[in-house]
Amino acid sequence: MFSLNNLSFPYLRIQNQFPMPKYTLHINGSEKVVDTEPDTPLLYVLRDDLELNGPKFGCGIAQCGSCMVLIDGNAVISCIKSVGSVGDSKVVTLEGLANENGKLHPVQEALWKNKQHNVAIV
Ligand code: FES
Repeated sequence: MFSLNNLSFPYLRIQNQFPMPKYTLHINGSEKVVDTEPDTPLLYVLRDDLELNGPKFGCGIAQCGSCMVLIDGNAVISCIKSVGSVGDSKVVTLEGLANENGKLHPVQEALWKNKQHNVAIV
């Protein structure tokens, strides 16, 4: 008799034999540990694992820039940057741009105003 349980069981066994590697990332001034494959795009780790939604998924092919983050002060497109290539670099997302007093960075203010404008139009 056909059963989906019979199909999924060997797959689960293989997953347990080969656990995913852990990466310690320096994100917005703190260390975060994630379990993921080395070729996972940094954008997916930021949004899905760390719940940082500042970087957006736009095109996924390095064309729109909506996933931009700063890595060691340089603008980097995170949808094509693998998490395995980040190493000890310091990553700053949109959330990390505000200062300690909570005052928004000019980029954050511009995005907030744009969002308010878009809501007002709809
Ligand atoms: S999602 Fe468009 S450049 Fe990354």
